[in-house]
Amino acid sequence: ADLGYEATLAAFETSLSKLGLDYLDLYLIHWPVEGKYKEAWRALETLYKEGRIKAIGVSNFQIHHLEDLMTAAEIKPMINQVEFHPRLTQKELIRYCQNQGIQMEAWSPLMQGQLLDHPVLADIAQTYNKSVAQIILRWDLQHGIITIPKSTKEHRIKENASVFDFELTQDDMNRIDALNENLRVGPDPDNFDF
Ligand SMILES: NC(=O)c1ccc[n+]([C@@H]2O[C@H](COP(=O)([O-])OP(=O)(O)OC[C@H]3O[C@@H](n4cnc5c(N)ncnc54)[C@H](OP(=O)(O)O)[C@@H]3O)[C@@H](O)[C@H]2O)c1
Repeated sequence: ADLGYEATLAAFETSLSKLGLDYLDLYLIHWPVEGKYKEAWRALETLYKEGRIKAIGVSNFQIHHLEDLMTAAEIKPMINQVEFHPRLTQKELIRYCQNQGIQMEAWSPLMQGQLLDHPVLADIAQTYNKSVAQIILRWDLQHGIITIPKSTKEHRIKENASVFDFELTQDDMNRIDALNENLRVGPDPDNFDF
């Protein structure tokens, strides 16, 4: 809600003091609000140069938003956090970000729990003796994508972090890729009233 140069600087101070911290590891512009994100980005650049944020990035930016932002940016976004899961594989955006050196990050990686009984994923999970959630999160990592699943349950948080002791074959990666339907659970950044 606090876009623009001064508003972003002020929002940063408020967040930092609420958190009781001296600096932030990562700060993102949540949505590409037309006419506002360039000014907000300039504020993030200032805070980054001052060492008050270790990495700066954006969220829900499509290729055209990134291209537009970079016409004015001094520093490239380091992260783009977008909705990403087997029903929304964002191939073009991933390729673009990889070419630009922008790290992709997946929000709602488990499609908010809607993929957990998918038969193809369940079949793959059985092969590896892992849960469907672990298969999806491993697929994220093998695509080079940071993933931020959320759970309110301790055992699931542990389960979701336990994805470094197996590797999906290329064939299984392809089977998961093939589930794409360009289907979102969250708003479409190109058709959303911010
Ligand atoms: N940048 C953005 O615009 C944006 C938009 C949306 C979300 N996000 C962020 O993305 C993060 C994750 O997204 P999300 O919470 O929407 O969706 P998600 O992580 O895909 O799914 C969360 C749901 O899955 C369940 N779950 C988690 N781990 C599980 C497991 N191992 N087995 C079975 N169920 C499991 C959770 O239930 P329990 O709690 O009962 O385990 C919860 O209902 C959040 O931190 C959120 O802030 C960012």
